[in-house]
Amino acid sequence: MGFKEEIARRRTFGIVSHPDAGKTTLTEKLLLFGGAIHVAGAVKSNKIKKTATSDFMEIERQRGISVATSVMGFEYKNHKINILDTPGHQDFAEDTFRTLTACDSVIIVIDAAKGVETQTRKLMNVCRMRKTPVIVFINKMDRPTQDPFDLLDDIEKELQISVHPLSWPINQGYDFKGVYNIYKNNLSLYTPREQTLTEAINIDGINDPKLPEYVGEEDAEELKDNLEIITDLYEDLDIKDYLSGDVAPVFFGSALNNFGVQELLDCFIEIAPTPRPKESEERLIEADEDKFTGFVFKIHANMDPNHRDRIAFVKIVSGVFRRNTNYLHVRNNKKIKFSTPTAFMAEKKTIVDEAFPGDIVGIHDTGNFKIGDTLTEGEKVHFKGIPSFSPELFKYIENNDPMKSKQLAKGIDQLMDEGVAQLFVSEFNGRKIIGTVGALQFEVIEYRLLHEYSASCRWEPIRLHKACWIESLDDNELKSFKKQKYQYIAKDKHGRDVFLADSAYMLQMAQAEYKNLKFHFTSEF
Ligand code: G4P
Repeated sequence: MGFKEEIARRRTFGIVSHPDAGKTTLTEKLLLFGGAIHVAGAVKSNKIKKTATSDFMEIERQRGISVATSVMGFEYKNHKINILDTPGHQDFAEDTFRTLTACDSVIIVIDAAKGVETQTRKLMNVCRMRKTPVIVFINKMDRPTQDPFDLLDDIEKELQISVHPLSWPINQGYDFKGVYNIYKNNLSLYTPREQTLTEAINIDGINDPKLPEYVGEEDAEELKDNLEIITDLYEDLDIKDYLSGDVAPVFFGSALNNFGVQELLDCFIEIAPTPRPKESEERLIEADEDKFTGFVFKIHANMDPNHRDRIAFVKIVSGVFRRNTNYLHVRNNKKIKFSTPTAFMAEKKTIVDEAFPGDIVGIHDTGNFKIGDTLTEGEKVHFKGIPSFSPELFKYIENNDPMKSKQLAKGIDQLMDEGVAQLFVSEFNGRKIIGTVGALQFEVIEYRLLHEYSASCRWEPIRLHKACWIESLDDNELKSFKKQKYQYIAKDKHGRDVFLADSAYMLQMAQAEYKNLKFHFTSEF
């Protein structure tokens, strides 16, 4: 198969949801379709959970929540599908945001009873920023749900994206009878089953006289009415609008019962984008360029508890990545070759000889890589788009054991390179401040420092509201601002100036006073 065909058959995407909406279950079912796992079981079965999800870290096993992001690749109908799994827990949202930078598209799972929830809204903000194409899967139709039209309105309003239903449910909850596939003009009747697939029934459009035989007179009439409303309300779906991130196609189903999943997947491989071009600071890089380029979006430590190694996850942007070939690590200006690059299938790793745009390879790392690093065949390009977001919580980190200060410094450095949290160093007193998205990350850091670096830390409180990256249109104003607010100025890990505002009010005042400075909640502006 030629290089261009390899690119054309690749789909690399992430599944995101608010916790409990059904992301893990949907992932599991997709893996089942792809033959990547062979037994479907309820997600609550630990056995499946361990094989189907990114359950690598000890801490994750202890807490039963997904801390890590993993990659699952499989073949389906001559397409190479790469699912980038994301932690559902909101305390690890930053990890999810970064993974989204490596996704060419996204499937958002929404609980049909709950509608759009907080975490979904935040994740959608990131997709919107990046114009990532989004498909919505409305899950748990086998349970009592909100009205489907209300759900669509909710998505449009809350996620600020136009929607276009490509399937429509026939009833819901105990009376759920199935979905009409608007996209294919056929019918899928619902029978709860976890192991096997639902076969769509071919009917001759919505006016087929056989329809009432399948779903009953009343529901057939209601379905017709609803489809008329849909035709009136929503214009025909133009795939271009989906690809530009302006319209989200919507599917209804029940992941647990394997219902509506195949329709989703079949449509997905048809319409979802092939590996997209990526902006670098120097130029736009197209997937079908000859020369290899890629970037690190995730660093994962200790997947094998017997080894201390880290694995850097590299998304291939262009060209063909080859084993044992020298590549330029642009930040370090060093050539490196990789003898054991791996492809992932949950916990299974296989060594790959070559990988194509859209693929993710895992590279053995002894501490050379940071999130956002670029690899090339020699060209000095730097990929954009791995922003840091302002943390929500801040604490001073202090050394508990003077004999272990080196270990602590190394541990903090490496954990920050992995993107576990963000480090700010106060310009005022030189103290280290760790910023996180959730309280749990402080525990993860403490635990990992102790178990991986034999370093003991303690936390001391600091009251901060937000970290703001400063954009200056006037050097003198910046100087005077830094002088006035010297207690609140820190450097981030790239040495950029950050204003640590201790309250929303303080930030407002600063904005009012310094008109030529802009304060951003993300490091990319
Ligand atoms: P998440 O990754 O988004 O957090 O969600 P996950 O797939 O773990 O699903 C959360 C719960 O919802 C699971 O129940 C799962 O079985 C259930 N679920 C997922 N899809 C469906 C569906 O289509 N219909 C129904 N009825 N339930 C679904 P659990 O963790 O086992 O908890 P419990 O309900 O057994 O207590």
